[in-house]
Amino acid sequence: MKLYQRLADDISTLIRDGTLRLGERIPSVREISRERSLSTATVVRAYEVLEAQGLIETRPRSGFYVSGQWHAGRGSDGPVAASSKPSASAAASALAPTRSIRVDISELVFQVLESVRNRQLVPFGSAFPSPLLFPMTRLARCLSVGARNMDQWGTLDDLPPGSIELRRQIARRYLRSGVRVAPEEIVITSGALEALNLSLQVLTRPGDIVAIESPAFYGCLQAIEALRLRAIEIPAHPRDGIDVAAFAQTLARHPVRACWIMSNFQNPLGALVPEDSKRELARLLDKHDIPLIEDDVYAELFFGRHRPKPVKAFDRKGLVLNCSSFSKSLAPGYRVGWVAAGRYATDIQRRKVMSSLSTSAPAQDAIALYLREGGYERHLSSLRRALAAQQQAALDSLARHLPDNVRISRPRRRIFPLGRAAGGEKCH
Ligand SMILES: Cc1ncc(COP(=O)(O)O)c(C=O)c1O
Repeated sequence: MKLYQRLADDISTLIRDGTLRLGERIPSVREISRERSLSTATVVRAYEVLEAQGLIETRPRSGFYVSGQWHAGRGSDGPVAASSKPSASAAASALAPTRSIRVDISELVFQVLESVRNRQLVPFGSAFPSPLLFPMTRLARCLSVGARNMDQWGTLDDLPPGSIELRRQIARRYLRSGVRVAPEEIVITSGALEALNLSLQVLTRPGDIVAIESPAFYGCLQAIEALRLRAIEIPAHPRDGIDVAAFAQTLARHPVRACWIMSNFQNPLGALVPEDSKRELARLLDKHDIPLIEDDVYAELFFGRHRPKPVKAFDRKGLVLNCSSFSKSLAPGYRVGWVAAGRYATDIQRRKVMSSLSTSAPAQDAIALYLREGGYERHLSSLRRALAAQQQAALDSLARHLPDNVRISRPRRRIFPLGRAAGGEKCH
């Protein structure tokens, strides 16, 4: 690596890990050149690279400062502007993480989850949909029919990989959105969370590096912490999700054992990765032969005309483990989820037996019956309409109560200043 590249790399690391913060002055060319015994031309070249990457900016007669562009593009600590995301190629080396870290999050998560029980609070920190939005009465009827018809052998039929009827129904739903998944590669789990955890257990050993997006779903961080893995964070944008160029660099430079991302309606950002980027993600996984755990729990909750495809749709080698559940779309509390595990299906099935033996047979049968009898599509359309209305109400309320300089994003939509949205601007 050339001297100016090494210097640029060192400074960008300090910016990315927060040692140098937004708006902070960085040492002058003369100071750096003296301290590191480098020519001023070398330092100037390094600063030019950092400037081109949007990491620093020059202020006339004042010096160099950590730029807002980087922080805005990161989508975490700071306001987010649509124009602030550096172009993929320019930003690639700036955004690509340089090191993996241990994760320590559990205490915070438990505090947030505890607050969810408080009915006086609106739980912004979690994603539990209102039970009023689901067909609980019809499901209860399916549950009772299922339980009445259950025989001893039926219980055994629902052992891992799980009810064949349910797995067929799930495979059919994949097909509707253009993804070919055979019932044989589906393993039924107790919610998506178990699917995600089993996947991570099967793919990794303690100390392995897992590539995740930043910010990430707290359950992902908890799983990494529990398994004593190391996380390498790839920035995600509130509109388009994971930065594909940074993802490419991370896979090329680090011994990543597995990846874990959400390509559809990421929690917490709500981002939707564009289809071309999903195709590119699949190509990169294929090239490096690295598996992806794809958390797809919100895929059914789209507001457009079509269900967005997962990365799994572009997977040719069985490397993507697509994890989902009915918790957010049909039956919260039933704890029925699954993983379409590709080439890892047998390993997941065995791990599931070791972990909890099987998912509740009556719950599996009730959902299979509900899906077979029809009505799911109708329920989903009214659920989506209700959620869209809730989203609009939340946006209107935030626009009324938060200051004008706060910005907000909607999945796959233009990012706009809150103040203007409140003034009746269409936020499409
Ligand atoms: C992003 C994400 N993944 C997974 C889960 C867990 O899903 P389940 O309730 O089906 O286990 C949640 C629940 O909040 C979630 O938000």
